[in-house]
Amino acid sequence: MAGKLTFTMIKPDATAAGHIGDILAMINKAGYKIVAMKFTKLSAEKAGEFYAVHKERPFYGELVEFMSSGPIVAAVLEKDNAVADFRTLIGATNPAEAAPGTVRKLYAKSIGENAVHGSDSDENALIEAAFHFSGTEIFR
Ligand code: RTP
Ligand code: MG
Repeated sequence: MAGKLTFTMIKPDATAAGHIGDILAMINKAGYKIVAMKFTKLSAEKAGEFYAVHKERPFYGELVEFMSSGPIVAAVLEKDNAVADFRTLIGATNPAEAAPGTVRKLYAKSIGENAVHGSDSDENALIEAAFHFSGTEIFR
């Protein structure tokens, strides 16, 4: 049974470019309820910890530098089939390969600076939500 929660970040490229409102509107129109949200900035240490699964990848250093380069919006989103439907809404990692109308097709600059994060499993959604929010900051 697919879970009801996913975790997202609007990444520093998209916050700097003024796309927060447009991306949140797309999220709401897709049927997601925002159950937790904050505008914050990750330290390099926190960004590295969040993306630790990619530690051995060649782009890890760039990814950590980028994700700690400016403010992000972190949010927990609720809807049936939350994880898979959100990955469809945001589109492929590389905006050049993202489907028309997806968040990354509309707002991402490159495969590295790609506007949004979306959890890739129900298990990771819960881990990532807990990474950014305490229980009292999640309203559902
Ligand atoms: P995310 O975790 O941020 O939602 O992205 P994703 O699942 O679509 O892609 P993933 O493979 O998990 O990669 C995490 C992030 O690392 C950066 N990246 N850069 N330069 C590159 O080849 C490259 N590949 C990945 C992107 O910011 C990607 O979203
Ligand atoms: Mg990922």
